[in-house]
Amino acid sequence: MRDLTPPRDTLDPIEVASRDEISALQLSRLKWSLAHAYDNVPFYRAQFDNHGVHPSDLHSLTDLAKFPFTVKSDLRDNYPFGMFAVPRDQITRIHASSGTTGKPTVVGYTANDIEMWSNMVARSMRASGTRPCDLVHIAYGYGLFTGGLGAHYGAEKLGCSVVPVSGGMTARQVTLIEDFRPTTIMVTPSYMLNLLEEFHRQGIDPRSTSLEVGIFGAEPWTNKMRSEVEAAFDMHAVDIYGLSEVMGPGVANECVETKDGLHIWEDNFYPEVIDPQTGEPVEDGEIGELVFTTLTKEGMPIIRYRTRDLTRLLPGTARSMRRMEKVTGRSDDMIILRGVNVFPTQIEEQVLTVDGLAPYYQIELVKDGQMDAMKVHVESLPEHGDGESQAVQAATLAHRIKEVVGVSAKVVVAVPGTVERSQGKARRVIDKRP
Ligand code: DLL
Repeated sequence: MRDLTPPRDTLDPIEVASRDEISALQLSRLKWSLAHAYDNVPFYRAQFDNHGVHPSDLHSLTDLAKFPFTVKSDLRDNYPFGMFAVPRDQITRIHASSGTTGKPTVVGYTANDIEMWSNMVARSMRASGTRPCDLVHIAYGYGLFTGGLGAHYGAEKLGCSVVPVSGGMTARQVTLIEDFRPTTIMVTPSYMLNLLEEFHRQGIDPRSTSLEVGIFGAEPWTNKMRSEVEAAFDMHAVDIYGLSEVMGPGVANECVETKDGLHIWEDNFYPEVIDPQTGEPVEDGEIGELVFTTLTKEGMPIIRYRTRDLTRLLPGTARSMRRMEKVTGRSDDMIILRGVNVFPTQIEEQVLTVDGLAPYYQIELVKDGQMDAMKVHVESLPEHGDGESQAVQAATLAHRIKEVVGVSAKVVVAVPGTVERSQGKARRVIDKRP
């Protein structure tokens, strides 16, 4: 893998500014954002009034803790456009998250918001090692999902040539990668594994492709998975984070030179980590729920949005802005098994330690009498698929899950191709409990 560290003089000055400069900018922008939300969104006015706070009560960044949280159901309650802070005719773009139940959550952007978003994705891509001359294959879904179009505008902003492939039609994706020779791919990590399999199926060595950088996000993935993908494709694998409510992809991104967690683009998004039970902010370095306040968004400012993503804040390294550790998972995806909290990423880590297992897995939750039980579905690699090897793989994985994660799981090792493949965001858990 080549060293793709971007030259220092290509970074935005604020990426390497002093903490004092960053904090001063945040404070002035935060004052603006709170006032903008209060003055223009009846929901925020009512929330702040009920809470007995006013935007003028914010004198320091820590004063933000006095303000109420916003949660996903607030967006649903104000469906479709009730959270917008500008008249509808000033909204340039609308996205929505599908959600599994009920109405989608709708988000809107002004032309300035799209400009800011594009700049943040361009910054994220530059941090990932993508250069203006690169050809970029975008396999995030286009449409209401923010992944495809968010990545697209950022890649154009950076000055790249963009191939807007979107998701699906895996065989064709491989053909396009072979023929167009992109240097960067943007896709979910689980769909990248789908592409890996397709390369093998077509008899193409994935290490021979033109790809040098993969910018993977939209779902949790582990450092073990990074090693797996980097080795399989001989490319850098870098993490991109974001969520529709706050913007879309490009809220935070890893730097290719360090790959040590995601720098949050703090000039536009103010992060807090809170104790999910009490709602109190925790110190940097402590794990909790990530909360974001937008500092510059016009169309739909969001104040103290509870992401449900669990992580911790760490000091800056390759950039001055703070990092968030790779997300362990969403509190919604946490499995509580006989009193032990388990995240799918913990299972992923163990699957990737067992020789002979493929990197595909799915967790099934069932009832075993009165008790909850977990089945882990995995599959053996083609050359390791005889019954005897599979029995060893199953025993090894069950043992490691018990030892490291602390729960008993029944492991089912099947032949290659049996575990459901991801088409975008992987479905890691199937809950069959009544
Ligand atoms: O997934 C935006 C996005 C698109 C991010 C493409 C990165 C790349 P939503 O559909 O609103 O938006 O889902 C947001 O996905 O709260 C996390 O739970 C999860 N998520 C996103 N990025 C990561 C990541 C997009 N890098 C939700 N690691 C978030 C872990 C992630 N989880």
